[in-house]
Amino acid sequence: VIFKDSAEPSILVAQEIAALIKEKASNNKSCVLGLATGSSPIKVYEELVRMHKEEGLSFANVITFNLDEYYPMDKNNIQSYFYFMHEHLFNHVDILPENINIPDGKVSPENLYQYCIDYEMKIKAVGGLDFQLLGIGRTGHIGFNEPGSHLNSRTRSITLDHITRVDAAPAFLGIDSVPRKAITMGIGTVLSAKRIILLAWGANKSEVLKETIEGDISSEVPATYLQNHNNTTFILDEGAASKL
Ligand code: GLP
Repeated sequence: VIFKDSAEPSILVAQEIAALIKEKASNNKSCVLGLATGSSPIKVYEELVRMHKEEGLSFANVITFNLDEYYPMDKNNIQSYFYFMHEHLFNHVDILPENINIPDGKVSPENLYQYCIDYEMKIKAVGGLDFQLLGIGRTGHIGFNEPGSHLNSRTRSITLDHITRVDAAPAFLGIDSVPRKAITMGIGTVLSAKRIILLAWGANKSEVLKETIEGDISSEVPATYLQNHNNTTFILDEGAASKL
């Protein structure tokens, strides 16, 4: 779906998420959300915060799992996704701290493998992801599933692509400070979500979106795997859609 800019669709996505949270609450069920960082979802989070403050939308039944985190990364660091999520959403709504799950960028290397398995088990234990919000990187990554990621991949550590590190460099005041690794949910984890929305704004994403939407499914552009998911919507602005 193509919109003129990101303002209107961000509100519509927030409304879909809010409706899901309320529907689950009315059935006394938890609502399990997979969440993304980056600039793309910021306005969605802004609108959810507004709905909480002005319309009483409650996050008391919400359980969240974030897609990814840099590795290594201290959660107090302003570049961490932990910090981002608290700044843009969690600090402003009534979600229970124990219901927030973000990969821990400080887990020790010897515990990392088991940590990733446990992250998957936690998602399964609460019934799987009801909804997954995604952005897309210029390499075609979703989460941090860089080119080469397998269809059945699950939460694991991954080496970041050079282009991804270049794109992250401004936030880290130079590429040398950008971590070389990350922890990310896998493609299989993302595709297990019952509903997926990918957001992309701006012409610098237009090339990768053309490949993602019109190209062959390939591990070289991991976002192409979404073509086989039965309930995914791509929401683009005119810039991001300009090469379709
Ligand atoms: C990072 C995140 C991705 C995100 C991407 C796009 O690489 N790990 O999950 O989709 O950035 O970011 P932006 O939305 O700022 O373009």
